[in-house]
Amino acid sequence: MHIENKMRRSIWIFSILVFVTLDLVGVSGSNISQEVSITYGTDKRAKFLDGGLTLSLSLDNFSGSGFQSNNEYLFGRFDIRMKLVPGNSAGTVATFYLSSQGPAHDEVDFEFLGNASGQPYTLSTNVYSQGKGNREQQFRLWFDPTIAYHTYTIVWNPQNIIFLVDNIPIRIFVNKEARGVPFPNNQPMKIYGTLWDAEDWATQGGRVKTDWSNQPFTIYYQNFDPVGCVVPAQPGSPPCNPTWQPHDLDPKGRNLIRWAQQKSMIYNYCVDRVRFPRHRPRECRGTRF
Ligand SMILES: *[C@@H]1O[C@H](CO)[C@@H](O)[C@H](O)[C@H]1NC(C)=O
Ligand SMILES: *[C@@H]1O[C@H](CO)[C@@H](O)[C@H](O)[C@H]1NC(C)=O
Ligand SMILES: *[C@@H]1O[C@H](CO)[C@@H](O)[C@H](O)[C@H]1NC(C)=O
Repeated sequence: MHIENKMRRSIWIFSILVFVTLDLVGVSGSNISQEVSITYGTDKRAKFLDGGLTLSLSLDNFSGSGFQSNNEYLFGRFDIRMKLVPGNSAGTVATFYLSSQGPAHDEVDFEFLGNASGQPYTLSTNVYSQGKGNREQQFRLWFDPTIAYHTYTIVWNPQNIIFLVDNIPIRIFVNKEARGVPFPNNQPMKIYGTLWDAEDWATQGGRVKTDWSNQPFTIYYQNFDPVGCVVPAQPGSPPCNPTWQPHDLDPKGRNLIRWAQQKSMIYNYCVDRVRFPRHRPRECRGTRF
């Protein structure tokens, strides 16, 4: 009880700090039309609204849609606000992710798997390094992501990758190169957002299909706020020093991630003995979260 109260208080204080900070830094990224380009779906399905402040993506029985950041980054902090498909979103997958190009690519994923009306979304996260993924951790959000915008963040440092939801860390992937686990740290990545159909696997293992009588399905993005080292560096800009907060979890961050994982994690590959019967994946050994 006591701990829970303390927890609530620290989330509350943390949120206030976050709102203040977002207010200060959010301005540059508030015009999403200046930061991203439509990659597919054409302007029929991907649309800038509110004078460029909102981007909507939609999916119909012919195509999904997507965008990518204009810049490519090597480390950074990437915030975006998203509002997901309400009602029956079964079969749909909305994403916000980083990816490099080419073979042996690196990738850091937020994937929102839709569900039948009234059933909860699954937030699936993954990290690929040198082409190898299979590192899913999945969450059930502590709010309905379809009613209002919420902020989803990827922090990418040389030391770790941190996933945050409304500024609460839910996952940390620590650099364990010293133990032979490749870490994304030399391939620049762009930031992507997509909405697509994955009715063959996404919802309840593929048992619940997309109901196309509800098309088009639409999601919204706002306040894309990339802060990072742009590659190649802009002429005349000082060398980029990847020092974004949080660089690591401080005691408050550790409390929050513990809270988020206890409350919301529904799948963790690190403890999946069916997929990894003999040994825990190497990067999972000796980690607390
Ligand atoms: C956002 O940027 C676009 C492209 O530069 C511009 O046309 C638009 O007026 C801007 N919107 C606002 C609200 O400033
Ligand atoms: C897609 O939906 C439209 C409108 O409901 C329908 O006319 C069309 O036949 C559908 N196309 C396919 C490939 O299912
Ligand atoms: C959808 O809802 C069901 C029932 O609550 C749940 O088992 C499942 O994990 C939810 N998410 C997906 C993506 O199927």
